[in-house]
Amino acid sequence: MTHATPESVDVQLGERSYRILIARGLLDSAGDRLRELFPAGKCAIITDSNVGPLYANRVAGALSNAGYTPTVVTVPAGEKSKCMEQVESACDQMIAAGLDRKAFVVALGGGVVGDLAGFVAAVYYRGIPYVQLPTTIISQVDSSVGGKTGVNAAGGKNLIGSFHQPRLVLADVATLETLPAREYNEGFAEVIKHAIIRDAQLFDDTGHADRANLSHMIARNVAIKARIVAADEHETTGERALLNFGHTVGHGIEAAAGYGRYLHGEAISLGIVAASLLSMRKAGLPQQDHDRILERLHQFHLPVKLPADIATESILAALKTDKKFAQGKIRFVLSSGIGSAFLSDAVTLPDITEAIEALR
Ligand code: NAD
Ligand code: GLY
Repeated sequence: MTHATPESVDVQLGERSYRILIARGLLDSAGDRLRELFPAGKCAIITDSNVGPLYANRVAGALSNAGYTPTVVTVPAGEKSKCMEQVESACDQMIAAGLDRKAFVVALGGGVVGDLAGFVAAVYYRGIPYVQLPTTIISQVDSSVGGKTGVNAAGGKNLIGSFHQPRLVLADVATLETLPAREYNEGFAEVIKHAIIRDAQLFDDTGHADRANLSHMIARNVAIKARIVAADEHETTGERALLNFGHTVGHGIEAAAGYGRYLHGEAISLGIVAASLLSMRKAGLPQQDHDRILERLHQFHLPVKLPADIATESILAALKTDKKFAQGKIRFVLSSGIGSAFLSDAVTLPDITEAIEALR
């Protein structure tokens, strides 16, 4: 079978630079592409209970043909697997399979698998390399790029983690064909986020996204993220923090609702609505842009109304443990118009409370 030349984006991080390839059929070429990075030896394919049955055999076959000895580690599908128990279990299985510091990890799945497997790679034998084979829209446009790895703690989302950049990202867009409609739609929350903070044209183009032809849209998103990560790898200058648009309230809702009720992108959709309301009040976002944002979220069947049983107090409690709170101060991302965003310290807890109430 012949495949089109992959779209390619580089993340420029000096000696930690890496390439992201986007095309159909990349899973089958994974073995050959990895041979350019790693000598033959052992590796772990970390996947979940939905993705494993669909793709793990193909990836394991491609790696075996290239001279590797893969061990497949499967976690239950869903956000609840982003936890320390699964980190320990994966490490135990890798130790039992004889993987040492020369081994590497292959993350095969969505953002949950990518964040978990990346963290396993960051801590196993004090750090081994890994590659990302993302299989959801969220993971292809966002989470597989940038090296934020980690798991949730009882006290909050993504509170245990590490920056650990992958060595390669292979986004096989053909895998998106097996994504259920809900998981397909949730991915557009992060696409809409990228468009709001950086690319008004992408916002318009997302209005007619073609499920059969997503490579270019994914590459545009990856290019946005790659540039931001290259400029502010460890989120110290404020530039990378722009990627948190919608995430302060979104993470609070995701945790308060209980992991598993909302998909990540669905919670972020609600967070985007709250951030957009606050942007109208504090940053002059035109009402027309706010309406277009709601319309676009609606187009992907993403939630824009918060149910009554998720209490504002629970969201605020979850939000206070968020990493974006620095010594009790909130660094909130606002937009003054679709296509641009900035970090503000003018948003108070009462402002956020009001925005959450306005979601009802
Ligand atoms: P996910 O990994 O849970 O995937 C969603 C669902 O789709 C799961 O049930 C999964 O089994 C299934 N699935 C995955 N690929 C499939 C395929 N090709 N066919 C059929 N089913 C498939 O969730 P997600 O939305 O991909 O990612 C959300 C996670 O990513 C959250 O934990 C979020 O915090 C994290 N995230 C991290 C970053 C980062 O920078 N590290 C950025 C954004 C999001
Ligand atoms: N998803 C936010 C970041 O990578 O910084």
